[in-house]
Amino acid sequence: MLAALSLLPSITSSIVAGSQPGTVSNITIFTPPSNYTIPRTLYARTLLLNQNCEHDNVLLATWENYSLELPYFPIFRSTDLGQTWMEFSRVIDQVNGWGLRYQPFLYELPQAIGKFPAGTILLAGNSIPADLSQTQIDLYASPDKGKTWKFVSHVAHGGRAIPNNGETPVWEPFIMMWQGKIIVYYSDQRDPAHGQKLVHQVSSDLLTWEDPVDDVAYSTYDFRPGMTVVAKMPFKQYVMTYEFWGAPEASFAVYYRISTDPTNFNASVGRPLIATDGTVPTSSPYVVWSSAGGPLGTLVVSSGSGPQVYLNHVLGAPGAWTKVDTPESTSYTRSLRVMPNENDILIVGGGVLSGTNNSVTAATIDIAPVAPSLAKCGGS
Ligand SMILES: *[C@@H]1O[C@H](CO)[C@@H](O)[C@H](O)[C@H]1NC(C)=O
Ligand SMILES: *[C@@H]1O[C@H](CO)[C@@H](O)[C@H](O)[C@H]1NC(C)=O
Ligand SMILES: *[C@@H]1O[C@H](CO)[C@@H](O)[C@H](O)[C@H]1NC(C)=O
Ligand SMILES: *[C@@H]1O[C@H](CO)[C@@H](O)[C@H](O)[C@H]1NC(C)=O
Ligand SMILES: *[C@@H]1O[C@H](CO)[C@@H](O)[C@H](O)[C@H]1NC(C)=O
Repeated sequence: MLAALSLLPSITSSIVAGSQPGTVSNITIFTPPSNYTIPRTLYARTLLLNQNCEHDNVLLATWENYSLELPYFPIFRSTDLGQTWMEFSRVIDQVNGWGLRYQPFLYELPQAIGKFPAGTILLAGNSIPADLSQTQIDLYASPDKGKTWKFVSHVAHGGRAIPNNGETPVWEPFIMMWQGKIIVYYSDQRDPAHGQKLVHQVSSDLLTWEDPVDDVAYSTYDFRPGMTVVAKMPFKQYVMTYEFWGAPEASFAVYYRISTDPTNFNASVGRPLIATDGTVPTSSPYVVWSSAGGPLGTLVVSSGSGPQVYLNHVLGAPGAWTKVDTPESTSYTRSLRVMPNENDILIVGGGVLSGTNNSVTAATIDIAPVAPSLAKCGGS
């Protein structure tokens, strides 16, 4: 790490930090009817299907949908990289009778696992009854790129869906494949030693799950790390972002950890994300890595505290996060997606907590560094 850090000034000095509007701007994916329960929509997530002749440029989106009916996760689809969207399917609770209420996440299997072939689309989300008396992270699979869905397995069961210390819910699943196995990361309030901690469970067949393993668990009971997102970087490194209530920098400061073993973030050091202008973004982060933007690519982090994103061109080195504007407004837990042209990062938001006017919106930014402008007047 020290050796890498000493390279920092020479690498960063060659990069002009910034972003420009990308190819998609001011897109509304879904406007909920005004008789929906507030916040109407929240927690939007996307998936870019693996590029091949049949499914080039296809995106799926889903979100929490506060309808009057038993809630389900709507699946909207775009075949033009996010310019236009149509309802495509609905993921409906097939086993609990509670609905699929909170925190959906979409993932495409890059390789086969168990009886599920490569290309299967997975959705994990929180099934919760109307009285919020239980939380159940369930896994669904689609064999046809999101058109039809089938229940696969229960991942984790918790108590009441209330985010207070002393309650025992589970929250916010995130899926990633690693070394032929599937990891589901989530937030866990069941351990009496921790108000909330971050854990993961691993499966080799999507049907049975190994015991939870800690990723972030602070010894102070009241501390609440939450909302795991993980991205792969070069050199077999993985970065995990989370919000951290209890951080000395700010309530719900965005923190990150880096590890070559994404099942052992517990052994890594958590660092606050502090931008070069001193900003400490807070709440509901999301992270992606793109190969564009510099020789080591670009980490892009969104948070719930503003419309900006934070770029890092040196694989997450502290002191190298720059804050840049985006055309996508602030949302609670916006999602990021690296587009086929890796300069373009899609940002999708579902609105803010308790928002009275939420809708699901999208915009892209272009993270390619601005080329140094060449002198145009005839001096040389
Ligand atoms: C965004 O789109 C809406 C219609 O969808 C339009 O009313 C509004 O003016 C647009 N805003 C910008 C900044 O382009
Ligand atoms: C909610 O509003 C929609 C129109 O936006 C209407 O079709 C539907 O009947 C309304 N539902 C209720 C229960 O009022
Ligand atoms: C959610 O979104 C769909 C669009 O798929 C909309 O038609 C529906 O009324 C909403 N209701 C529910 C249950 O989420
Ligand atoms: C996680 O790391 C802490 C030190 O930060 C250590 O005390 C604890 O035993 C570790 N937990 C596991 C499950 O390895
Ligand atoms: C609600 O949001 C829409 C765009 O999403 C905007 O045009 C409208 O002015 C907003 N209404 C209120 C009351 O904020």
